[in-house]
Amino acid sequence: MKPIKIAENIWWVGVADWELRDFHGYETEKGSTYNAYLVKGADKTVLFDTVKAEYADKFIHSIKQVIEPEKIDYIVSNHSEMDHTGALPEVLELVKPEKLFTTRKGEEVLKGHFHRDDWPIEIVDKDNGLDIGGKTIKFIASPMLHWPESMVSYIPENGMLISNDIFGQHWATSERYDDEVDQGELYHQAAKYYANIFNGVSNAMKRFLDKLNDETGEIKIIGVDHGLIWRKDIEGILKKYRQWAAQETGNKAVVVFDTMWGSTAKMAGAIVSGLVDEGIEVKQCDLRVNHRSDVITEILEAGAVVVGSSVINKGILPKMGDFLTYMTGLIPRGRIAASFGSYGWNDGALKKINEEMAGAKMEIFEDCLTVNWVPTHDDLTRCFDYGKRIASAVKAKH
Ligand code: FEO
Repeated sequence: MKPIKIAENIWWVGVADWELRDFHGYETEKGSTYNAYLVKGADKTVLFDTVKAEYADKFIHSIKQVIEPEKIDYIVSNHSEMDHTGALPEVLELVKPEKLFTTRKGEEVLKGHFHRDDWPIEIVDKDNGLDIGGKTIKFIASPMLHWPESMVSYIPENGMLISNDIFGQHWATSERYDDEVDQGELYHQAAKYYANIFNGVSNAMKRFLDKLNDETGEIKIIGVDHGLIWRKDIEGILKKYRQWAAQETGNKAVVVFDTMWGSTAKMAGAIVSGLVDEGIEVKQCDLRVNHRSDVITEILEAGAVVVGSSVINKGILPKMGDFLTYMTGLIPRGRIAASFGSYGWNDGALKKINEEMAGAKMEIFEDCLTVNWVPTHDDLTRCFDYGKRIASAVKAKH
């Protein structure tokens, strides 16, 4: 796509990846964009971030529509992950910048990725902002968001925050701004991004949001590295991030399960009925048809997670093993966690589900509810009552 002028002497020069469907385990059903920004000052021209390696040609073509690449003086690498640095070797070769700005950790990661000692890396810290003539750039570290080396850049003259992955969405669109697209889908994709990328570092996010408040003036535009640029509902997305970072949850439960011959699915259905009967919002997610990244998105604002599996080979079903690894990695701490499942001759594996969730600092609710073979009418009543008790615990907490 053509570059887009987003403010005086500032251009979006990113690329759209319409075909992306998997981002290290996160299903990106609507593709993504890799956003980069070109900022011209009276004295210096700066490129913020690059794109995935395979899009280097498109990216350079986009830059050339604004400026001859050789005229770029500085490159800023806000985040070293390969979707923003893959094209860096090719771009550096062409641009030959005076300086490549990154954090100290960023230097380590760039060297670890590209094994180059000849790049003109300049380490930034909070005190060395950059005057490029009529515009200044303030670097603000954002450690662990979501890598240790991450930072954001703020241009006070334009009230523009270039925020690396923060506030982003994996969504390829022909539109570039938040106010040009469906708001429900925009916030769904922003929530999915937070749940799958940032939820595990929510404490760091809280600290960062406070720092952002202290160290920037008014934010009028947020140039994210993925998806739509925020120019209208800045307060809306900041408010959502504060809520997600605080791990604010509501009267909602997610029942997620896999089943071998349908017994655990029957249990799930009865538990869902019990939860619904208590009047809370419920999402039923069979892992055979729901992707892990969509289930995590549902859990983002849920007060309880109820996890079920059948037993196979003395363990839980493989899709549930995958899901538990993914979920506990994203640390949905503080949420009520319950488990259930059916077994034939050994229920040991089911008992271990709670141990795993306790290890992720979830609040374990009662022992795992188990059924031997196929649930009877009485078993389903037990499941229904279990759901009701979980719902009562959720309501008591909110
Ligand atoms: Fe968009 Fe963490 O890379």
